Amino acid sequence: MSINTVGIIGSGTMGLGIAQVCAQAGKKVVLVKATPGDIERPRGKFVGSLDKAVERGKMEAALRDTIIANITFTDQEEAVADCDLVVESVIEDIEIKKALFNRLEGICRADAILGTNTSTLSVTAMMAVCQHRDRVAGLHFFNPAPVMSLVEIVHGFETSDATLKALNAFCKEIGKAPVLVQDTTGFIVNRLLTPYMLNAIRMLERGTGTIETIDQAMMTGAGLPMGPFALADYIGLDVVIAMSQNIYEDVREGHHAPPHTLVRLVQLGYLGRKTGKGFYDYSAKPPVGNPALVHPVI
Ligand code: CAA
Repeated sequence: MSINTVGIIGSGTMGLGIAQVCAQAGKKVVLVKATPGDIERPRGKFVGSLDKAVERGKMEAALRDTIIANITFTDQEEAVADCDLVVESVIEDIEIKKALFNRLEGICRADAILGTNTSTLSVTAMMAVCQHRDRVAGLHFFNPAPVMSLVEIVHGFETSDATLKALNAFCKEIGKAPVLVQDTTGFIVNRLLTPYMLNAIRMLERGTGTIETIDQAMMTGAGLPMGPFALADYIGLDVVIAMSQNIYEDVREGHHAPPHTLVRLVQLGYLGRKTGKGFYDYSAKPPVGNPALVHPVI
């Protein structure tokens, strides 16, 4: 089966990024805002970021226009009825995702593939609420989606070979490098990356180093583009804590539970770049470590 039209449910960072990748590769995209609110907000954000790329000479104006022309923005889930593939990228809440899959089965064609961009939740749990379970799979993109090549194709318990093959071909068509992974909490990347970020936070709490020195050490000593605190802020601390909770829930090993400092930052609404403050304070130029965390918390 070839995939030419893609529905994306959720217009957050990942939904918009996936929409860009697909539209840029010539796919027709229907992007559905999943929560109530003005559709012009995500649309404006999307167009604004493409405009910025054009202004900085990173993108041709013609490509921007093609991308925009390939995307229909809507707040109506029913608009994905004719899509070959629908990818959900809504909040990391299993009950919300299960309810969405249930509704999608009623909306989509029987041969459409239903994918989830979940970071750590069980694809099989989402599949379980569906009648046609063979066409459900994980399709996990990485942030920023237009830049990161990897897509984890997640094999749920009853995903068919035909679905996996179609997704593999689709990923290649949109310029991504897919890997096949079994449905285990965190798949490959987040299962390794989440404990790494949690360990860095515990290292900060022990006073081994500061936010800046730990980040700098991992960039210059391990050759990574960002240190663990910059990365956590980039991903979003609400996402990092959800990944930690989901992995902990699965394995029940204490070192996977969210550290104290992460819990407190999320309680305060300091979610990283998207709120202007997390481990770093982005209102300062250049960003500095959150003053509340300069001295180890424990
Ligand atoms: N959209 C499109 N292009 C973008 C972009 C975006 N949001 N952000 C950066 N870019 C492009 C830039 O235009 C630039 O392109 P060129 O090389 O063609 O000029 C390139 O990426 C590099 O960007 P910058 O020079 O602005 O900045 P940088 O060199 O500091 O790179 C970064 C920024 C790509 C984010 C880099 O720091 C990086 O790779 N960081 C690690 C990101 C990472 O690990 N992501 C995975 C997180 S885990 C996840 O997502 C899974 C999950 O489920 C939570």
